[in-house]
Amino acid sequence: MTDFIPPYPKRHKKTLGPIDMLKHIRRDVLSIWPEDAFNKQFMSFKIINRSIFIANHPDVVRYILSTNHDNYQRKNPLMRKALQPLMGDALLISDGAAWEKHLELLVPMFSLQKIEQYCEVMIETTEEHLQQWALLSEGDTIAVFPEMIQLTAKIMCRILFGRQVTAEQAAQVVDRFADYRASMEQMDINSFFGLPSWVPGSKTSKNKSTQAAKAVHDLFDTLIAEAEESGESTSLVAQFVQLRNNGTLTGEQMRNELAMLFMAGHESTASTLSWALYLVSQCPEVENDLHAEVDAILGDRSATFGDVGDLIYTRAILDETMRLYPSFPMLLREAIEDDVIRKREVPAGSIMIIVPWLLHRHQQYWDYPDHFIPERFLEEDPELVPDPFAYIPFSAGPRACLGKYFGIAQTTLCLAIIGQFFRLRTTENQVVETECRLTLRPKGDLPMLISLR
Ligand code: HEM
Repeated sequence: MTDFIPPYPKRHKKTLGPIDMLKHIRRDVLSIWPEDAFNKQFMSFKIINRSIFIANHPDVVRYILSTNHDNYQRKNPLMRKALQPLMGDALLISDGAAWEKHLELLVPMFSLQKIEQYCEVMIETTEEHLQQWALLSEGDTIAVFPEMIQLTAKIMCRILFGRQVTAEQAAQVVDRFADYRASMEQMDINSFFGLPSWVPGSKTSKNKSTQAAKAVHDLFDTLIAEAEESGESTSLVAQFVQLRNNGTLTGEQMRNELAMLFMAGHESTASTLSWALYLVSQCPEVENDLHAEVDAILGDRSATFGDVGDLIYTRAILDETMRLYPSFPMLLREAIEDDVIRKREVPAGSIMIIVPWLLHRHQQYWDYPDHFIPERFLEEDPELVPDPFAYIPFSAGPRACLGKYFGIAQTTLCLAIIGQFFRLRTTENQVVETECRLTLRPKGDLPMLISLR
């Protein structure tokens, strides 16, 4: 067991008042929490007239995400407003009948059999990407987070559009999504809590996000056309084209779903991999066990889909990484009808927040909650395994991540293939901090020194 406590934002002694809270949210959404939030089970407060609840006990989380999913299936207003120009009514932000229809169409695209096909692309693309690392000299520095973004973007693009997508095209997709994200970040933070527009807040930039969305749409239209021409049958476009041709989806809806899948799938996997590489680099005993596992299972050969289930310790490192740094550290929902939870009235329109950041480091549900201990995920004694609703990096219930097994396979294979050949180190006195934008990622580029094993 390691005694390494990786970095996290300062915790306040007392709960912040509403004005301070809004100020902190604008800077970093993870910096609002007081120490006792990691010990409470259900919290509520009001900003202006909006009731806000924090579900911080596995039973309450189960109730929101699963038992009474119907009442809490709607995403919060900010997320809908921020993502609509890019993805219309795609699965991630729709609710009710539209969400059900899209889910039914997309589920078969994420079957185990399909994931096996996608894994071939993940492996080929990772090996291709790492050939550039092999050209570097011992002790050269690589920018880990941008590297992981480029890698996962290439993988996502090739799974969406086919193997003909080049590294340059994937980089272009990354740039256009980065512009879109920048326009989103300037959007009115008041919408985060559904507050009225007279409350002092930051400026909105609807025009900018409409322009940035158009740039993504134009590029996606080109990639879709090239994918159709290539005739590759395993890409997601090939599966969507059938739905478009039989009239189930319009061309615009098909493009919206593809944009949504790119957005949902590439930054989350890139952030998780970057954090995992950092955490492993800080703990020689974890690094040794990772290397021992990949050497025993992969040796010098290429990984395959079949290895995912055998890379048990690699997976435990990733599980623990997602506990400490969940890509989506806050999940926001809106109550559709009045409800009562733990004797507290929850009026329709309230914002219900589930905070994996708190749940995953909660003092009542975890031993050594801030330590990095991959072995806790190897535990077989059911008494010692945490409640599944206390650990929700992929959310849970009917609206859980559609790409969960895709994401697990991709991060497991990428981490194992990197571990097969390379060792990464931080520099002396390097400060690593968190930054929470769309996903929770390392602040800056996360530069690390590279060497061949
Ligand atoms: C480590 C990787 C990933 C993590 C940690 C992750 C996590 C999550 C979480 C927490 C949600 C719920 C968001 C919310 O309720 O607001 C979600 C939803 C979703 N994710 Fe992932 N995800 C990952 C990878 C992927 C990948 C690779 C794809 C697709 C290729 C994907 C597709 C989706 C979709 C479509 C939804 C929306 C589901 C719905 O609303 O019904 N995710 N993901």
